[in-house]
Amino acid sequence: MLLLGIETSCDDTATALVRDGRDVVASVSTDQDAFHSKYGGIVPEIASRQHVALLTAAIEDALARAGAHFGDLDGIAVTRGPGLIGSLVAGVASAKALAFALDKPLYGINHLHGHVFAAFLERAKPPSYPFLALLVSGGHSQIVRVSSSTGMEILGRTRDDAAGEAFDKTARLLGLPYPGGPAIDRLARYGDATAHAFPRHRPGRGSLDLSFSGLKTSVRYFLETPEGKSAKTEDVAASFQAAVVDVLVARVDAAIAQGDYRSVVLSGGVAANSGLQRALRTWAARNGVELVIPEQPYCTDNAAMIAAAAFYQRDAVRADPLTLTADPNLPFELPLPSGDRR
Ligand code: KG4
Ligand code: ZN
Repeated sequence: MLLLGIETSCDDTATALVRDGRDVVASVSTDQDAFHSKYGGIVPEIASRQHVALLTAAIEDALARAGAHFGDLDGIAVTRGPGLIGSLVAGVASAKALAFALDKPLYGINHLHGHVFAAFLERAKPPSYPFLALLVSGGHSQIVRVSSSTGMEILGRTRDDAAGEAFDKTARLLGLPYPGGPAIDRLARYGDATAHAFPRHRPGRGSLDLSFSGLKTSVRYFLETPEGKSAKTEDVAASFQAAVVDVLVARVDAAIAQGDYRSVVLSGGVAANSGLQRALRTWAARNGVELVIPEQPYCTDNAAMIAAAAFYQRDAVRADPLTLTADPNLPFELPLPSGDRR
C-alpha cells in the first residue's frame, strides 16, 4: 500500500511516499527557518503563505524522487491537527483536492500520532504493544501509553512550556539562533553540565506531568546575577540541558514502573538531542528496556510519519474529501469505533 503523506502543521512543508507504513520511498522537507529566524520564532501568517507557495512542488518532488505517478497512489494522508490553523488548512485543502480529483482514499491524521508511528519507519521489527512513547517537540511534551494502533492515552503532559519551547526560549536568552534546541545541543558538548544547579521541576505528587517554564525563568534570573554575567555560555547550555534530560528520564522511569510496557519510543524534535539520547540509552540498558529512537530526519516534523500513521490507523481515520476539516485543537484520543461506543 503506497501512501502520499502531507505534513504542514507548523513551519515545515513536508511530503513523503511510504509503502506499507514502513518503507520510506521518498521524503521531502523544506524548512522555513530562513523566513522565521529573524523574528526569533515562527510567524504563523508567513508559515501558511510559504506552505501554499511550496506544497505543489513538494508533492511533485516526492513523486519524482520515487519515480511514481499519481495513479500509483493507494491513498493520501494529511495532518489535520493539532497545529497552526492557517498552516494546517494549506495541507488539508491540497489533500482533499487531490483525493477528490484522483478518487483515492483520504486519511486525516493527528500530528502527535504521526510522531508515535515515526518509530515504525525503516525498521525490520517495529516496537511491540503496549509501549510507552515520550513525545517531546516544540509544541508538545507528553508521555503516552500506546496499547494498539488506535489505543493511545496521555499519562502526563506539560503544564506550561513544551520541552522544545524551553530549549528555544533559553537559547534566545543565551543569544543563540532559532531553533534553539540544536544550538544548545551543540554548545552543551563543550560545557560542564554540573557548573550550575538549575531546578528539576516535577509537578504534582504521583503525577507524570512536566513543567519547564520555571527552569527557563531560573536561567533568566541567573544570567542577571554577577555570576551569571561571567558564566561560560557552554556551561549554562550544558547545565540547562542536563536539567531537562534529568526530568524526562525520571518521568519515563516512573511511568514504566506503572505498566506492562515492552518498549519505550522517544520521538519529536527534542528526541534528536544527543544528551537526552545518551541518558535514555544508559537508562534503558540498565533497566533491560528496548529503546526505539527514529532516525534523525523522522524525529523532527516529516510527512513519512503521517503516511505511516495512516497505514496503521486506516480504518479509524478514513475521511471524506468533501468535508474533512483542519482542527488546530484536535483531541489526542481517537473517537471509539461506533461498535465500541457505550
Ligand atoms: O517535532 P518538531 O520538528 O516540531 C514540532 O512539532 O514542534 O520539533 C521542533 C523542536 C524545536 O523546539 C527545536 O528546538 C527542537 O525540536 N529540537 C531540539 C533538537 N533538535 C530540534 N531540541 C533539543 N536538541 C536538539 N538536538
Ligand atoms: Zn512535531
